[in-house]
Amino acid sequence: MDRCDKLVDVGRRQFLRGGAIAAAATATAVALPAAPAKAAALARVDYPLNRLGNVADLKPNEPLDVAYPDENAPGVLLKLGTRVEGGAGPDGDIVGFSTICPHKGFPLNYVAADRTLNCPGHYSRFDCEAGGQQIWGQATQNLPQYALRVDEKGDIYAEGVDELLYGRLSNVL
Ligand code: FES
Repeated sequence: MDRCDKLVDVGRRQFLRGGAIAAAATATAVALPAAPAKAAALARVDYPLNRLGNVADLKPNEPLDVAYPDENAPGVLLKLGTRVEGGAGPDGDIVGFSTICPHKGFPLNYVAADRTLNCPGHYSRFDCEAGGQQIWGQATQNLPQYALRVDEKGDIYAEGVDELLYGRLSNVL
């Protein structure tokens, strides 16, 4: 029984020593100087204000090839003929989209009959009357749509994009 008590006593001491070490480690962790504050991540990028065309260049329901925010980012301008989400101009019917599929980067084709941009790669389809919403397919995001502004002379300017362009870490390189 004596021996057994000693073992219990040794066990207690070991336990207390372990607790003391853990407490010291915690105190050390608490005493560490605070990490320097990280610079706030930039959630927005500065888009260029680019003239993409003029209202007079557009024919109803026919795509006009453009590029935005740089020459390596193909897209289209469309005059849909009915006021739509994100539509610019006097009739609120001018929209612009990237024409690179957000799934794996195939170039999209415009289908005037249902006003969609369609992918020949894996058949995703995007509704140009609904802000580029994907209506079928493999992509995991909607089609990037341009923020457009039309001035008093009818010049159409892009000043932003609402989704990340395919293959980029930032829309503005
Ligand atoms: Fe367009 Fe796959 S690249 S659906």
